[in-house]
Amino acid sequence: GKTIGLIGAMAEEVALFLEEMEENAREEYAGIVFHRGSFSGAPVVVCRSGVGKVNASVCTQLLIDRFDVGTVIFTGVAGALDPALDIGDIVVSKTCVQYDVDASPLGFPKGTIPFQETSVFQADPEWIRLAMEAAEAWTEGKAIRGKVLSGDRFIAHPEQVRELRETFGGACVEMEGAAVAHVCHLNRIPFVVIRSMSDRADFSAGVNFTEFASRAARCSNGIVKAMLKKH
Ligand code: ADE
Repeated sequence: GKTIGLIGAMAEEVALFLEEMEENAREEYAGIVFHRGSFSGAPVVVCRSGVGKVNASVCTQLLIDRFDVGTVIFTGVAGALDPALDIGDIVVSKTCVQYDVDASPLGFPKGTIPFQETSVFQADPEWIRLAMEAAEAWTEGKAIRGKVLSGDRFIAHPEQVRELRETFGGACVEMEGAAVAHVCHLNRIPFVVIRSMSDRADFSAGVNFTEFASRAARCSNGIVKAMLKKH
């Protein structure tokens, strides 16, 4: 399909898209409201998945099954793991990994899903290129391509940051990206995850995260608008 699925986890993250899109129809499945219409000249379905990997997975599969989307773009905030990243910087997913998968007692490395050909999901190169171009124009900070780590926990401890960096070498940590990536991989649908750094996943993460939400939402909105215009 030509339709683009646009997902955010939280209300703030999708609010601007909903304000600016031309909405034609609204459907609800599994408690998720899907807004169909056009944004920045492209056919889109905008939705709020809710937080965490299960919500993100269900939402992504519904976008594919019920709306025949040909691409999934996920935007939101993340905790920075790479020490070179500042709050406000952007990470565009090169790859996504579920860092909380752990079958190491069976001999599988951490983050490896047993008996599956890959556990490191590659984002689409052309969407990465468009996202990087748009991100560089929109952020007051910098934009990098990197590995996005996802798991069902909010990270707010330097020791956990050190461990995630050491084990996986991730650029940032959040709670949905790799679930979206995994579902897209299973369905052979291209995806890209775009994350604004809201915090450093340290003891200040909770406070920084809350303060940063609206600024990040404006940035994500601008980036996706520019991407779709050039697509
Ligand atoms: N999203 C934004 N900041 C985060 C953090 N520190 N951990 C998990 N998800 C996040």
